[in-house]
Amino acid sequence: MSHFDQIAEQYEHLIKKDGNVRFDYIMDQLEEAGGVQGRRVCDVGCGPGELSAMLADKGAHVAAADSSAKMLELARRKSGKVTWLEDDAMRLGSIPDGTMDFVVSSLMLMDVPDFMAVFRQSHRILAPGGMMIWTIMHPCFQSPFSHPLDEGGRKVSHYDAQYWKSHGRGTIRSIVGSYHRSVSDYINGFQEAGFELVRTDEPLPDIPPPRVPHWFCAVGKSKPARNSN
Ligand SMILES: C[S@@+](CC[C@H](N)C(=O)[O-])C[C@H]1O[C@@H](n2cnc3c(N)ncnc32)[C@H](O)[C@@H]1O
Repeated sequence: MSHFDQIAEQYEHLIKKDGNVRFDYIMDQLEEAGGVQGRRVCDVGCGPGELSAMLADKGAHVAAADSSAKMLELARRKSGKVTWLEDDAMRLGSIPDGTMDFVVSSLMLMDVPDFMAVFRQSHRILAPGGMMIWTIMHPCFQSPFSHPLDEGGRKVSHYDAQYWKSHGRGTIRSIVGSYHRSVSDYINGFQEAGFELVRTDEPLPDIPPPRVPHWFCAVGKSKPARNSN
């Protein structure tokens, strides 16, 4: 059982309030890369399925993987066109090598102990030249060590890689915790796993300053695996 089972309904409720704005970056980058009509897309850590369902509606062949049976139960209600897979993002055992044109991952890399395994598996399932697009909560500003200030900015006190749980009662992060890592850990790891970095972005929220980004986002192109001979 995944610990995300406990918060699946709470999470779905929470994100309903925010709308699907958190997927804008991934959707824009897919469009920039030629669109998804007829393309094979894997949504890694699909959660309650909104992004996968949107992609399927745009004509993509979508395989969506999540380790939480409860999240997948909610996701199945959103679309009958997606292949929903109960699978660990660090293994992706149900997806054969080289069978995807795109891998997308929205706000889930902070939830796995081994983010390198997710990058390596994503690289394995991509066809040559395929792309991975991922977003995370911005590790500089969205962490337990970053505290909101009255005027709208944030004060950051630590930037060390560590697993943390929030102290709030019944909040999502008090139940499932999160792995805090630096931007450089992610970017170096992404490249070491076989991706050529195409771009990174830190979209700013549409509010008056001072404002800090909620998300850190990256796009990479799969390079051929190194020959081990
Ligand atoms: C914060 S939610 C994000 C869900 C969705 N992508 C979104 O943006 O709304 C993180 C998701 O990652 C999933 N997850 C966590 N660890 C995982 C793992 N090892 N393998 C697959 N999915 C995992 C959780 O079950 C959860 O659905």
